[in-house]
Amino acid sequence: MKNIVILISGAGTNMAAIVHAAHQQRWREHMGLQVSAVISNKPNASGLDWLRSHSEFSEVKSEVLDHTQFESREAFDQALMRRIDLYAPDLVVLAGFMRILTPPFVAHYEGRLINIHPSLLPAFTGLNTHQRAIDAGCQFAGATVHQVTTALDHGAILAQAVVPIVSGDTAETLAARVLSQEHLIFPEAVKHFFKTEAVLLQAT
Ligand code: GAR
Repeated sequence: MKNIVILISGAGTNMAAIVHAAHQQRWREHMGLQVSAVISNKPNASGLDWLRSHSEFSEVKSEVLDHTQFESREAFDQALMRRIDLYAPDLVVLAGFMRILTPPFVAHYEGRLINIHPSLLPAFTGLNTHQRAIDAGCQFAGATVHQVTTALDHGAILAQAVVPIVSGDTAETLAARVLSQEHLIFPEAVKHFFKTEAVLLQAT
């Protein structure tokens, strides 16, 4: 069985989309894939409440590792790595995990660490992506699933979704339109990650 660990910081709607897809599409039976754990750096992340309130997903462990309890970014990342590695992950998924990761963390999971970012990368790395896209006069916005490298919001692009920016859009209305597409592409990108990996293994 291959293990997926998902990291969140907040609402966790992307995490929910992946957990839901895994359950509904029976990834365990069809692909030998399971979401083993969801770990939040924030104790009050509502995504944790969502997960715990759905008994059908009880096989997915939910955990908190509060970053405020650590003296440094390095110490937190080391502890997070130890926690994640208990699940022997084949893939670590950043799903609204709002932390900048240290190079040793990224290096440790190189090739098995992916993120979703709410813009059409390489445009609009960083924060406030929707307002910046509106202010720039863009006609389209979107989201990108990508491999994580030490350069923030860079790394090979695995999937993108495009939505129009319409007259009267605010950052909030645009964020909602983009988020609904994130929920479609992220589970698909996770599945595709493992299909591609299987093809590469067969070729070697
Ligand atoms: C999503 O829009 C995701 O793309 C974004 O945070 C939101 C999390 O929502 N991620 C980033 O901005 C990472 N730089 P969720 O907690 O409901 O999945």
